[in-house]
Amino acid sequence: MKVTVLGAAGSIGQALSLLLKMKLPDNSHLSLYDISPVTPGIALDLSHIPTSVKTEGFDGTQTKEALSNTNIVLISAGFARKPGMDRSDLFKLNAKIIQHLIEEVAEYSPNALIGIITNPVNSMVPVAASVLKKAGVYNKNKLFGITTLDIIRSNAFIAKLKQKNPTKINTPVIGGHSGITILPLLSQLTKDYCFSEKEIVDLTKKVQTAGNAVLEAKAGGGSATLAMSAAATRFTLSLIRGLEGEKNIIEYAYVEGNTTYATFFSQPLLFGRDGIIEYLSIGNLSQFEQNTISNMIKTLNNDICIGEEFIK
Ligand SMILES: NC(=O)c1ccc[n+]([C@@H]2O[C@H](COP(=O)([O-])OP(=O)(O)OC[C@H]3O[C@@H](n4cnc5c(N)ncnc54)[C@H](O)[C@@H]3O)[C@@H](O)[C@H]2O)c1
Repeated sequence: MKVTVLGAAGSIGQALSLLLKMKLPDNSHLSLYDISPVTPGIALDLSHIPTSVKTEGFDGTQTKEALSNTNIVLISAGFARKPGMDRSDLFKLNAKIIQHLIEEVAEYSPNALIGIITNPVNSMVPVAASVLKKAGVYNKNKLFGITTLDIIRSNAFIAKLKQKNPTKINTPVIGGHSGITILPLLSQLTKDYCFSEKEIVDLTKKVQTAGNAVLEAKAGGGSATLAMSAAATRFTLSLIRGLEGEKNIIEYAYVEGNTTYATFFSQPLLFGRDGIIEYLSIGNLSQFEQNTISNMIKTLNNDICIGEEFIK
């Protein structure tokens, strides 16, 4: 199994690469790429951790080597938010980077599964889909916006509120990956947890604004990177378990799915040997959740449209 990280010298890229070096299946191949010349050094540094995962690092001139024969491409290349910026401010900065990198993926690893971390995810996934379509290699079962951070944050917040073990909670989170477009489905957890109306409103808001809270707490020194790296690692390991033929591997991700809400929407997905093998139902929603979806749709569709228009 070969996994390539594009943006591997960044804050997320380095933490993610460390976790993958520790957690990928035996004898996997971890390929690190970044325009920063430090990247081969990061791979060398990681190679001193005694696991059977092979690491290689490539600088900006070596996309072909980084991407050839890869099974999974994870993209965290691009700029992160600074305090006062929202995810849409990032669009212009990062859309060009995603366009360029996806063109390289289309050329050198057209069959790979692609997980996009770079923000704004709501728009970057449509950018990537449009580039892949133009190159004639788009397969919607293989392109994902990684939204797992919203799930693990929800799990952590619920565990703290209800004094439970966070590893036993798995919150469904649908929609997009910014502000009001993020919707944790707390009504689907009521079998195990009892939430008051106030708790539902407060928890939903807390998940939606968690990125801003980290941004402010880091006081200009970066955005959410460590929890994101843990989230992307969980997501990648699930993709791999599916590729290796394990059954019943389900994760949520922002994809061109089959809901009627928007062209791209985060929903539950069944993974298999070719990426997504089934688009699962998001299940029953409470009135609060239906209202939240109604309120997010305009923003989400606008984010999608901006991404698609960029490539026309
Ligand atoms: N999806 C999520 O849940 C989530 C969470 C947090 C952050 N993010 C996003 O992830 C991205 C990365 O964040 P970070 O904190 O690691 O940023 P960072 O600035 O620390 O790292 C970005 C890296 O991208 C590299 N890069 C830039 N252009 C490149 C190119 N063309 N090819 C290869 N590499 C290139 C830079 O050299 C740098 O090493 C940001 O867009 C951020 O908003 C996403």
